[in-house]
Amino acid sequence: AKTYDYLFKLLLLGDSGAGKSCLLLRFADDTYTESYISTIGVDFKVKMVEAGGKRIKLTLWDTAGQERFRTITSAYYRGAVGALLVYDISGVLRQLLGVRDAREEARPSGKHATFENVERWLKELRDHAEANIVVMLVGNKSDMENKAVTTEQAKEYADSLGIPFLETSAKNATNVEEAFLTMAGELIRLREANAGAKPAECKQNKHKTARPSDSRSYKASASATSAASATSKAASSHARERPPPRTAATQWPACASA
Ligand code: GTP
Repeated sequence: AKTYDYLFKLLLLGDSGAGKSCLLLRFADDTYTESYISTIGVDFKVKMVEAGGKRIKLTLWDTAGQERFRTITSAYYRGAVGALLVYDISGVLRQLLGVRDAREEARPSGKHATFENVERWLKELRDHAEANIVVMLVGNKSDMENKAVTTEQAKEYADSLGIPFLETSAKNATNVEEAFLTMAGELIRLREANAGAKPAECKQNKHKTARPSDSRSYKASASATSAASATSKAASSHARERPPPRTAATQWPACASA
């Protein structure tokens, strides 16, 4: 029997060193490590949560921030209904490591870089994700004393995009669960608001461009949950050799910014 009411595929995106893997480990396993091992390809975890009286199964995909490890992009964007866009509030690690890669030539590389690159990750979402994916801005490492990016700056930016924003610390577990639950709550709200809506009533996220596949999406919605379940069972917990099959769930419209 089905043990959940909703199944959501969420992505963690952001520059290398922002703390995506640590946020995932804190949320899924309640663990933390100081050692920095760059994600290669994609990591994957499943976590059950409850929000608004509903049981939600979250499949969480941790992506590599470094371009040279990002070879299977389309597979992990497929079917994702939410993305946590993570930047590093302190910018310290990035400065120490001088993190740079091919894609980053002529890009900001100072303390603010992971924040300034949020713009580029948004573009990446526009290019690869479903048009109506729900995005949230997450400023990680709030435990660090010196902030390179102020709360006000980030909040203003998130407001200008019309997306939720939270500052987190994977290190001392501040707001980590809240961030994922905010995303889950937002997705439930949108799904329930759109439950009886016709396709024409489903507004597109203002940051995204409509794709031809969007018009087909409602046909698939009834079987979305079970199909997505099958997909997640087929997925292993480490980097994918092969993209998962395209399922009905991949076309389910989240109807962001309703
Ligand atoms: P890639 O896998 O390369 O994309 O990086 P990532 O974004 O997954 O970064 P990761 O989670 O591996 O964290 C990078 C470094 O930042 C590690 O050394 C962590 O210990 C540190 N770090 C992560 N989260 C926090 C935090 O909340 N506070 C502090 N102070 N350090 C953190």
